[in-house]
Amino acid sequence: MNLRHFPLLAALLAVGSALGADIESAKPVTAREAVGWKLFFDPILSRPKNFSCSSCHLPDKGWESGVALAKGAHGDLLPRHVPTVVNLDEAEFFFWDGRAESLEEQAKGPIANPIELDLKLDEAVARVSAEPHYRKAFAALGVKRISIDDIAGVIADFERRLVTGEAAFDRWLKGDRSALSEAQNRGRMTFFTTGQCALCHIGRNFTDGDFHNIGTATEDDKGRYAVTKDEAEMGMFKTPSLRNWKGREPFMHDGRFATLRDVIDFYSEPQDSGIGETEIDPLELGDDEKADLLAFMEALNGPWPDLKPFEAAWRKLVE
Ligand code: HEC
Ligand code: HEC
Repeated sequence: MNLRHFPLLAALLAVGSALGADIESAKPVTAREAVGWKLFFDPILSRPKNFSCSSCHLPDKGWESGVALAKGAHGDLLPRHVPTVVNLDEAEFFFWDGRAESLEEQAKGPIANPIELDLKLDEAVARVSAEPHYRKAFAALGVKRISIDDIAGVIADFERRLVTGEAAFDRWLKGDRSALSEAQNRGRMTFFTTGQCALCHIGRNFTDGDFHNIGTATEDDKGRYAVTKDEAEMGMFKTPSLRNWKGREPFMHDGRFATLRDVIDFYSEPQDSGIGETEIDPLELGDDEKADLLAFMEALNGPWPDLKPFEAAWRKLVE
């Protein structure tokens, strides 16, 4: 379907954007989420005890790393760019190639990965079980013998709470027509109609949760194909969320673009790597159109999750 011909439909499909997020951030933090918070920031989950999930997913870098390719606990360069862990509450696939199908399954990956945290899963269980505060916290959850599924489970629960708050575009969707400037309104039309961004970046988090080939694959990284071995999925990557893009630079699975303007230039005059078939037609946007699109996309940024309630809930649990 080409949304260029269905501007109204495109706008309707975006409705409901952050309405859920507001409700989410108002909910009290559960004990499970608090334990997940503690583990996410705890270096005991890395073999040299120098690295935690948050060493690569830094809250002040949009829960990414701020560099094209980050390094693991032993200093090894990772093959792919660190994606964010916010706004994954509706995601059904994880990693750029979607090789994990739940946050629970995903969380075990970096712990055991020799170039990430490099800790055997049974060693992770032994270390967590040896800490009196974790024993006390898990006991409060009804867990007597901690397992790796308990550890991954609470981390996943914490991650599901990482949703960002109301952005200017959400206020516009709720009927506040003053929430967008004229330039942003022109950019909105580009995003949802002529620019066709919403063909893939749609829904509350501006992602269809699916895989697409936009011409960015390389001989070394053929994306989804590595998982499914399906020729039709050659060169495809998971559509990333565009909600709260600001602070998550650089962009793409290999961090090739330093700024959002670079990304817009790419969609305007795309360079196809020739791996699989790209779904992107050159948009050939003028400078003004690019500036308007960028202005609109500023309206997708809202407040980042507040971590204070997690810390408070953890203290209550172990004191
Ligand atoms: C050494 C850096 C590093 C550490 C430490 C790390 N990650 Fe990641 N994380 C990455 C990279 C790189 C990817 C993307 C890998 C890929 O797609 O192949 C990723 C992907 C993810 C994703 C998938 C996001 C998406 O959009 O699909 C989640 C969720 C995640 N990490 C959570 C965690 C958790 C939880 C921990 C701690 C247990 C952790 N990460 C530790 C680097 C790291
Ligand atoms: C055919 C589907 C499709 C269309 C159309 C599309 N995108 Fe994307 N977009 C993707 C995929 C897939 C990626 C990830 C590719 C990669 O990592 O190599 C992506 C990545 C991005 C990123 C990087 C986000 C990040 O977290 O790294 C931005 C920004 C972006 N797109 C904006 C846009 C804009 C603006 C438009 C319209 C001009 C657009 N996209 C049109 C599928 C699409």
